[in-house]
Amino acid sequence: MTSPLLSDTAVGPAQVPASSLAALLARWLPRQRWFTGQGRDVTGVSVAAATALTTDCYHLLVRVDQRGSSDGAHYQVLLGVATHVPPRMSPHMIGEVEARPGERLMVYDAVHDHRAAIVLLERLRRGGSAGHLRFESLPRTSVPCGLTPRVLDVEQSNTSIVYGDELILKLFRHIQPGINPDLEVTGALARHGFTQVPAPIGWFQTEAPFWSTLGMVQPFLTESTDGWTLALESSHRRTGFTEEARELGRTTGELHVALAKAFPTGLRPADQSARLADAMSHRLLRAAASVPELRPFVPDLQDVYAAAVTEGGDAPLQRTHGDLHLGQVMHAHGRWHIVDFEGEPAKPVPERRADRSPIADVAGMLRSFDYAARSGGEFHPRWADRCRDAFCAGYGESGGFDPRAVPAALRAHEADRAVYEVVYESVYRPELLTVPMNAVARLCAGGTAGTGAPHMSDQLPAQEA
Ligand SMILES: Nc1ncnc2c1ncn2[C@@H]1O[C@H](COP(=O)(O)OP(=O)(O)O)[C@@H](O)[C@H]1O
Ligand SMILES: [Mg+2]
Repeated sequence: MTSPLLSDTAVGPAQVPASSLAALLARWLPRQRWFTGQGRDVTGVSVAAATALTTDCYHLLVRVDQRGSSDGAHYQVLLGVATHVPPRMSPHMIGEVEARPGERLMVYDAVHDHRAAIVLLERLRRGGSAGHLRFESLPRTSVPCGLTPRVLDVEQSNTSIVYGDELILKLFRHIQPGINPDLEVTGALARHGFTQVPAPIGWFQTEAPFWSTLGMVQPFLTESTDGWTLALESSHRRTGFTEEARELGRTTGELHVALAKAFPTGLRPADQSARLADAMSHRLLRAAASVPELRPFVPDLQDVYAAAVTEGGDAPLQRTHGDLHLGQVMHAHGRWHIVDFEGEPAKPVPERRADRSPIADVAGMLRSFDYAARSGGEFHPRWADRCRDAFCAGYGESGGFDPRAVPAALRAHEADRAVYEVVYESVYRPELLTVPMNAVARLCAGGTAGTGAPHMSDQLPAQEA
């Protein structure tokens, strides 16, 4: 039920003057890791939908307008409003407002508030509607009561709440119209019996300002370690990771076979390779317009894409993971599990839901081995090469083809992924820009993104792994 505290005229907690709230959010939102409009001036912030979850916690969809974009972006925020907040909430303060002369209210990020997290899960258990929100109920028996919530402490582009190591609720932050691909794909894979992806067991959505998925609950993988942590440890200690990489390749191949069944595709167009190269070239030119360091490499990268057309060996398009890297895979109970089917967060949803070459996912993982091999100041090229080979061999055992059999297509997809990384790093982690830039230089020089060809451009000393 929508709270009587909400005023009819302005959407938002009625005790908080709309202009004060907008000013606070305009400062706070761009500092959040999940804010996707980094680097552009905020020209307007408004609350597009609000529903009270408790007397001091509001579910908001906040519209942000920015210079250089005609459409506003919408973000999901749980807003706490109270006269006092406990000291443990101080890192999550959004600010203070004067509700009435002499009456100050604290406004905070209520994702970190246990009571708000518990109410959200309770809503999912019960199902039904609340204001602009609609909850698809979880089977009650599958959710024990009294689970203690905690916000997952990992670098991520959304926010996840873990309940007592039993469940994980992922709150999508940048909301776009339509079903979220993470829910769509994990749901379809579960219906087709694919067990290496945690199945969604509940979700909630909004009906205003447009229909969109807001969050989903999955079983939490206990005693799991993410692939990035495992790979980094192995790369630093220079221990073998080939068995793990091979098994990861096998699981990725199985995933692609399952995806092709869950989302059948049509015939492969005769000019598929040319179309892919055109799209890569288009992305390259857009990237070079925003990152000047890429410009000298444009002609050579165009040649890399053209070589894939000449080879003509790319795989048929299908639904894919969309953003596969070591941070999206978890090793638990002796097996790999794959999470986060949202695709590359910066892309619009229709593009993320489009069919792609499965080699694009393979390239994403190979680029991730390169990142792991370069992390921590030393470069371990042999380690990365062995991972690449093992991963591709494992993929070949289950995916229907060995990606190394189409080297030009593989190189083009690695280059395309490295170009995406260049743009991403230039915005979010400029200190890591050299990692994909080194890969671009080497791919242009005729090498793979692992080793193979000249390392002149590497700024980190080459070391034996
Ligand atoms: N079912 C799960 N069990 C255990 N940990 C998980 C699960 N799903 C995700 N995680 C952890 O949460 C992190 C972030 O989840 P992810 O879906 O990738 O969100 P984001 O879109 O924000 O990157 C993952 O890298 C992983 O460490
Ligand atoms: Mg992720």
